Amino acid sequence: MKMIISNNCNLLYYLLMLISVNEVFPIRTYTKDDLNNLRDEVKEMFYHAYDSYLKYAYPYDELRPISCDGMDTYGSYSLTLIDALDTLAIMGNHTEFQRVVDILSAKTDFDANINVSVFETNIRIIGGLLSAHLLSNIAGINLEPGWPCNGPLLRLAEDVAKRLIVAFDTKTGMPYGTVNLRHGVPKDETPVTCTAGIGTFIVEFGTLSRLTGDPIYEEVAMNALYALFNHQSPLGLFGNHIDTNTGRWTAQDAGIGSGVDSYFEYLVKGSILLQRPELMEMFHTSRKAIDKYLKKDDWYMWVSMTKGHVTLPVFQSLEAYWPGVLSLIGETSNAMRTLHNYHQVWQQYGFTPEFYYITQNEAGAGKESYPLRPELIESIMYLYRATGDPFLLQAGEDILRSIKHSAKTPCGYATIKDVRDHRKEDRMESFFLSETTKYLYLLFDVDNFIHNQGEHGTIINTPNGECVINAGGYIFNTEAHPIDPSALHCCHTIPNQNFDFKTFETNRDFYQGTLIKKYKKGTSDDLSSLENITITLESGVASVEELSIDNMTEKVAENMSDTLKNGSESILLAENRVFIAQVMLERFRKENRYPKNEAWQTNYELLSCKAQTFLQRLSIWGEFFNK
Ligand SMILES: *[C@@H]1O[C@H](CO)[C@@H](O)[C@H](O)[C@H]1NC(C)=O
Ligand SMILES: *[C@@H]1O[C@H](CO)[C@@H](O)[C@H](O)[C@H]1NC(C)=O
Ligand SMILES: *[C@@H]1O[C@H](CO)[C@@H](O)[C@H](O)[C@H]1NC(C)=O
Ligand SMILES: *[C@@H]1O[C@H](CO)[C@@H](O)[C@H](O)[C@H]1NC(C)=O
Ligand SMILES: *[C@@H]1O[C@H](CO)[C@@H](O)[C@H](O)[C@H]1NC(C)=O
Ligand SMILES: *[C@@H]1O[C@H](CO)[C@@H](O)[C@H](O)[C@H]1NC(C)=O
Repeated sequence: MKMIISNNCNLLYYLLMLISVNEVFPIRTYTKDDLNNLRDEVKEMFYHAYDSYLKYAYPYDELRPISCDGMDTYGSYSLTLIDALDTLAIMGNHTEFQRVVDILSAKTDFDANINVSVFETNIRIIGGLLSAHLLSNIAGINLEPGWPCNGPLLRLAEDVAKRLIVAFDTKTGMPYGTVNLRHGVPKDETPVTCTAGIGTFIVEFGTLSRLTGDPIYEEVAMNALYALFNHQSPLGLFGNHIDTNTGRWTAQDAGIGSGVDSYFEYLVKGSILLQRPELMEMFHTSRKAIDKYLKKDDWYMWVSMTKGHVTLPVFQSLEAYWPGVLSLIGETSNAMRTLHNYHQVWQQYGFTPEFYYITQNEAGAGKESYPLRPELIESIMYLYRATGDPFLLQAGEDILRSIKHSAKTPCGYATIKDVRDHRKEDRMESFFLSETTKYLYLLFDVDNFIHNQGEHGTIINTPNGECVINAGGYIFNTEAHPIDPSALHCCHTIPNQNFDFKTFETNRDFYQGTLIKKYKKGTSDDLSSLENITITLESGVASVEELSIDNMTEKVAENMSDTLKNGSESILLAENRVFIAQVMLERFRKENRYPKNEAWQTNYELLSCKAQTFLQRLSIWGEFFNK
């Protein structure tokens, strides 16, 4: 509400207005029963949509909630089934979780002649598989010996990653946007990729490397992040699209939303998950430019990356993730002010439109839809955990009410085609089950295991020593798939991590928490079978090192070891070109194109966040116990 107060009379009116507004809309107080009821409403919402997907749409990618059938959208890989899987674990449905894991485990790989988005396949498929893999023991299902360093879902995730990694084989190391799951980068594929399509791999690829012991994924993702960072404008801003071969920006609008968003998100989340302070330094550096050029009255505009002037005074629905990211670095008051702006837009329409013109207070023409996006509820969930402010419960309830009221159909929930009249459209994206319902559920389910702040964990024995899992501090990928950070310490020692144990020892209580209960193996989860398991590392790539990428003809490939030729490490591209991932990695290492700041790599203090207690301690437990 904007108002110019010119005299006392108006001031009195203003005060009366405030009082009456507060009387009409007081902030509700929520009892535990209220919260449980809201949680159950969300659960019902999830099952209405999930059961409809199974009944009408599976094995297609998505449900069409008005025509009550299914369609393929992103890759003909039963996307919604995989994307929704870990939500089942979070809602405690272990039988259905096991049933779906069994279906997926029967699959040997993702080989198919299909062109897919590298970005979407990574966040939805690899992210979904990795998360379900790591939640398998909490969901009480049968574990393969060697878990969490082994398992059918982990193998599938790695298979997909091997099919995507060919996209990074560019001059700059920034990936193409599309690959064919069987044949690699399609002929004539454009080298232009959006910023988020380059900077949104470190959470999934880092997890893969830490679990499998193969450094390639993490290194390739880091290389792409450094590449992006080194292409920032003199103002410190990032554009929207860049040519991955020349490094030339082809779309120069800088913002925090569409085409860019999860790049910033992954600098923060990757930093915490993988204990890499340099990513947080990169975020803080970019953040300064964002605040200087984009931020106006707690809104974030779009500006020219070279000149800094506003090009588009628009709030995008996708940008609503930003307050949640700020809460992860402890900036709750900044985050709350921005969230209030975004919530006002929700109140105005009952949904957030894709584009909202900040100065005109109206939905953007042609951008009036709401495809059941999660970003606002995501920020609300994070901020509620950081502040406990009941306003956030009310904001969450507003979202639940709108979706139930206007998006529900007899067989699912539909995209809102126009937030101004709530007309529906025949689409339910998979992120409704993966993200929107999950964040709503977690907002109201205050005792969920995901909210564990380190009060308890499970100790398992692995060949690498004792390690702690399920100790909280879960990092959600940008598709809301939670990753257990402590599990990443169970499988392999990661080279080049010079963790300062002196700092750790002096802050031991802080990191360790005070209420840790050690659940020895053989309590609720029978992990005794994990003892004495040895993990066999894949090897046999040493001979590749001397080859230069320019010599990668099929002839050279003939001399590769059988493992390389046959494994999905090598892909036969069109025109008989052969791609070998290890060769690409060696090239990145040798070229070492992007300068790295050594001091940034060890500033571990950056990684603690007092505002989010669930993040501050346990991510380095594995280090502690493995020492
Ligand atoms: C688990 O999900 C299946 C499929 O939706 C459903 O039939 C079953 O009732 C659910 N079980 C529980 C405990 O919620
Ligand atoms: C993949 O894209 C390429 C290039 O656009 C095209 O020629 C090819 O037919 C596509 N493949 C499939 C399976 O759609
Ligand atoms: C592990 O190996 C040791 C020594 O070989 C053996 O005594 C122990 O019983 C084994 N534990 C399990 C669970 O197999
Ligand atoms: C490999 O590439 C280099 C330079 O690109 C060239 O000089 C050399 O002859 C090539 N070797 C083979 C075996 O093709
Ligand atoms: C492959 O190996 C053979 C025998 O070791 C060698 O004579 C030949 O030059 C190699 N080919 C290439 C392309 O390196
Ligand atoms: C590799 O594939 C070829 C045929 O494609 C097969 O003859 C050979 O046995 C395979 N080698 C291994 C190690 O699997």
